[in-house]
Amino acid sequence: VRKGNGVKGLVDSGIENVPRKYIQPASERILKIVGNENSSYHNNVSPIDLSLLDGPNHDQVVKAIVTASETLGFFQVVNHGVPVDLLDSLKQAAHRFFAQSPEKKAVYLPGEGRSRLVKYGTSFAPEKEKALEWKDYLNMVYSNEAEALEHWPKLCKEEALEYLKSSNQMVRRLLKILFENLGVKLEESRLGSLIGLKMVNMNFYPACPNPDLTVGVGRHSDMGTLTILLQDGIGGLHVKVEEDFVSGRKEEWIEIPPCPGALVINVGDAVQILSNGRYKSAEHRVRTTSKQSRVSVPIFTIPKPTEKIGPLPQLVERDGMAHYKEVVFQDYMNNFFGKAHEGKKSLDFA
Ligand code: SIN
Ligand code: FE2
Repeated sequence: VRKGNGVKGLVDSGIENVPRKYIQPASERILKIVGNENSSYHNNVSPIDLSLLDGPNHDQVVKAIVTASETLGFFQVVNHGVPVDLLDSLKQAAHRFFAQSPEKKAVYLPGEGRSRLVKYGTSFAPEKEKALEWKDYLNMVYSNEAEALEHWPKLCKEEALEYLKSSNQMVRRLLKILFENLGVKLEESRLGSLIGLKMVNMNFYPACPNPDLTVGVGRHSDMGTLTILLQDGIGGLHVKVEEDFVSGRKEEWIEIPPCPGALVINVGDAVQILSNGRYKSAEHRVRTTSKQSRVSVPIFTIPKPTEKIGPLPQLVERDGMAHYKEVVFQDYMNNFFGKAHEGKKSLDFA
């Protein structure tokens, strides 16, 4: 396999079965979910119309956002401020990037010295994983527009920047809603620090000959503040609903169904920590499919690395204890990126 070929290179070479190193242990393999109809959560994944926040149904919309964040940790939104045309352009840009020759992509491999802001890779932590994920990705770190324009790949930088800009208001609004619901009014500067670092990924999941043996992404929770995710029409994003002894609810996995024009929002570890556990950073994973390649384009909003993240004092007082310790977010990130995906283990760091 040539350097920079990724999983896509394997598939393009015409393999009929996945190599051994991609075969997951039985415990990590993903059963096809036939449908969410039987789940008590299936209503929770139909999109929330954010334009209704400005009308008489404001309180209902707030309640839907809050409830989803307290239970599933995932919801979908429409009328989110990101132009629907741009969603299509982003998916095309992702396909364009990965359709390039291995040589063109390889310049963004770490260690090639092109830019510390851009990384092309395959699987999450290949050196640490027992089985590799069936996924190639491009990661673009945002610090400011000038740097992004200079360093991000030509083929997708305009779209990615526009995506960041047009989603910013929505992200801030959602965070305000979530914290105001807990009786905490975040100052604008603190809000800015909670999303002070941003990354845009272009994820590419090639069609896979053995979807029952592999994962696109293994079980994990996102480490940051909120994740905004654009997925295409293929499907395969599954979220875990945790067992709840109080209500008697059993553990189950439900799919976040593709929905044209919608964006998926999920709560990250930082918000779970800040909210002293009130909001859930849910475990999720991606199934592969043999039919077609899938792309997704997440924006990760992340606290500024120097920011101290711990349960908000008002909530600690109310709850009588802090469920997490305070961390400097750089340390939290180093821990997260230094290990293979392993469910919600990253939260043990806080
Ligand atoms: C991820 O959670 O890492 C990827 C989600 C997706 O591609 O849908
Ligand atoms: Fe994720």
